[in-house]
Amino acid sequence: MIHKKLDKFKSDFLWGSASAAYQVEGAYNIDGKGLSIWDTFSELPGTTYEGTNGKVAVDHYRRYKEDIALMKELGLKAYRFSIAWSRIYPNGRGDINEKGLEFYDNLIDELIANNIKPIITIYHWDLPQYLQDLYGGWESREIIDDFNNYCITLYKRYGDRVKYWVTLNEQNVFILLGYKIGIHPPKVQDDRRMLKANHIASLANAKAIESFRQYVSNGMIGPSFAFTPNYAYTCKPEDVLARENAEDMNCHWWLDVYCFGNYPAFALSRYEKEGIAPEIEDGDLELLERGKPDFIGINYYRSETVEANSIDGISNFEEINTSGKKGTSKDYGIPGSFKTIKNPNLDRTNWDWEIDPTGLRIGIRRINSRYRLPILVTENGLGEFDKIEEDGSINDDYRINFIRNHVIACKEAITDGVELLGYCTWSFTDLLSWLNGYQKRYGFVYIDRNEKDEKDLKRIKKKSFYWYKNVIATNGEEL
Ligand code: BG6
Repeated sequence: MIHKKLDKFKSDFLWGSASAAYQVEGAYNIDGKGLSIWDTFSELPGTTYEGTNGKVAVDHYRRYKEDIALMKELGLKAYRFSIAWSRIYPNGRGDINEKGLEFYDNLIDELIANNIKPIITIYHWDLPQYLQDLYGGWESREIIDDFNNYCITLYKRYGDRVKYWVTLNEQNVFILLGYKIGIHPPKVQDDRRMLKANHIASLANAKAIESFRQYVSNGMIGPSFAFTPNYAYTCKPEDVLARENAEDMNCHWWLDVYCFGNYPAFALSRYEKEGIAPEIEDGDLELLERGKPDFIGINYYRSETVEANSIDGISNFEEINTSGKKGTSKDYGIPGSFKTIKNPNLDRTNWDWEIDPTGLRIGIRRINSRYRLPILVTENGLGEFDKIEEDGSINDDYRINFIRNHVIACKEAITDGVELLGYCTWSFTDLLSWLNGYQKRYGFVYIDRNEKDEKDLKRIKKKSFYWYKNVIATNGEEL
């Protein structure tokens, strides 16, 4: 649909930015914090880009006031951040660490004092190591109660001040990368274990939402899903079918469970035939039914294009480009279902991610049509190399173009009739990219550090900072 005129953003549209505890906080063992699986994983040789870790990250734990002052200067309406479970419960369960709770109290109060709405992500991948060692983390149903208990602690403490909550960040990513591809902790490569851990995570998500209703009145809660809409490479029916397969296996497998309380038929029957489907116990479907979200958070970075894959076709699962050397990622596939192929109509970033603003509109439309829930864009942004010029400026026009085109796609989706609560860029300051170190930068604010040298961690506003400031000031009218 080409609209003659685009609707305006609502006056309370959440113009935001997002981050995650491990990627910004640092202070990994300060004030009683326990270790997380990322603290220990990054110690293992060869797991992250040039051995980078979040021990110091960008020191947001100590500099949060300075960072929030910059957010205020930019005019941010919302800030999405995650809470480190092991700051609140150093062992994931048992004794509470009051110092950890206080840190987030201060952060939330500082945001509110500056007219910025806090959006809490309860879990952004940093599972307490203790629970991983105790019972295998997400592979044990014991985690459902531990996670619920942790959530209730947060609801009771912050529920009076925080309206928007995200349960699990990108369950599809931490499960696929942690249990299928094995490049995130706990480094497992086993489809059966992957599907089991995933089912348990879905139950934990539902239970957390069910509890939310008891403790937080007038709040909204939902998961953030890494949404990569699929396109068929051609209009050949077998490619269109491959797209259906990919959409079911890579998107509906999670979103249907969140929103319908059950798995999509095609993918479930495929896993059943292979004998690897998750065990659905008595009461599971009822819990999923009770734990449906108020909105769907989507983290959108790119679309993916697929074509038919023969029964003995490619089966490698995603070789990811973590170096920023364009063209080093490899296609992947699931034999008999689909395989990815480069979309000749789209340019890619230096990390080989397709740049596709229309994909965001298509994705928002698909989710809205299927699930009829409001949508919050919880992440969108461009990871690129940035350069400080001799005069000290950082001219990230490529980032401005990227975000501008994605904001236009949001505006078009709103004009199409979708209820969009807000748009959070990834990220506010530069931060640690899990597997890509510090050179893949996302922020409006440059952090002066690199993989080898923490330097002074000075904050420097990029050109995009001033541009986004004006976007917010004009409520998205001047792009
Ligand atoms: C999402 C995550 O997958 O994408 C973020 O929620 C992450 O934590 C972001 O940083 C960008 O990915 P990457 O791999 O470039 O850091």
